[in-house]
Amino acid sequence: MDYIFQPCRALPAAARKPGQQARFMKQYRDHYFLKAKRENYPARSVYKLKELDAKFRLLRKGQKVLDLGAAPGSWSLDAAEKIGPHGLVLACDLQAVDTVFPPQVVFIQEDVFNRSADFEARLDALGPFDAVLSDMAPRTTGIRCTDQARSLELAEEALALACLRLKKGGNFVVKIFMGPDVQSLLTAMRKRFASVTSFKPKSSRSESKETFLVGIDFQKSTPD
Ligand SMILES: C[S@@+](CC[C@H](N)C(=O)[O-])C[C@H]1O[C@@H](n2cnc3c(N)ncnc32)[C@H](O)[C@@H]1O
Repeated sequence: MDYIFQPCRALPAAARKPGQQARFMKQYRDHYFLKAKRENYPARSVYKLKELDAKFRLLRKGQKVLDLGAAPGSWSLDAAEKIGPHGLVLACDLQAVDTVFPPQVVFIQEDVFNRSADFEARLDALGPFDAVLSDMAPRTTGIRCTDQARSLELAEEALALACLRLKKGGNFVVKIFMGPDVQSLLTAMRKRFASVTSFKPKSSRSESKETFLVGIDFQKSTPD
């Protein structure tokens, strides 16, 4: 996680040595962290979506967007700007948010693995969507294969939801912690989208294992 208002997390072991903490904290409060603070976004992750959108032209005026794992709300704010007042963002996260959204954003506290009847009703009423975005990430344990497996489960659930809720021709972005099992997700996406690309934004920390898979032009065909 890289929330602006929650910068205190465990530092790398090297940074725990006396005298090195200040240098690491300076790096931690990096260019994108400070830029997000200046530009009033609640998380630096907003620049990942901006880069993804600049490269893949994902968001346009008047579109409907489903934002999964939306807290604290940077992606939803950016998507709301791009789609404008006549578009709609349906955003959900396990966690509540205190970000003030514009009227075109509807935020619901929700677990994607255990979706409530109310959320499904909103999906029915507000969808289908032009884009499904998932920046969902598991609570990390530090055990690489566990974190990768949990990230993959989230990404697979995001893909399942996208397949149910995207318009034909729609686009899908999903964050994934890279690991050996990502191939299965790529294969599943290639069956559903005209093109699938892996992209690591410059604003993603180089030490992070995360990357984004981007599916363009949803085909709505049955996968197998
Ligand atoms: C990196 S943060 C998202 C940041 C967000 N895109 C932004 O720009 O503000 C990842 C989010 O995924 C959420 N998440 C993890 N598992 C989830 C689940 N099962 N259902 C919904 N959200 C989940 C976490 O609560 C966390 O807020």
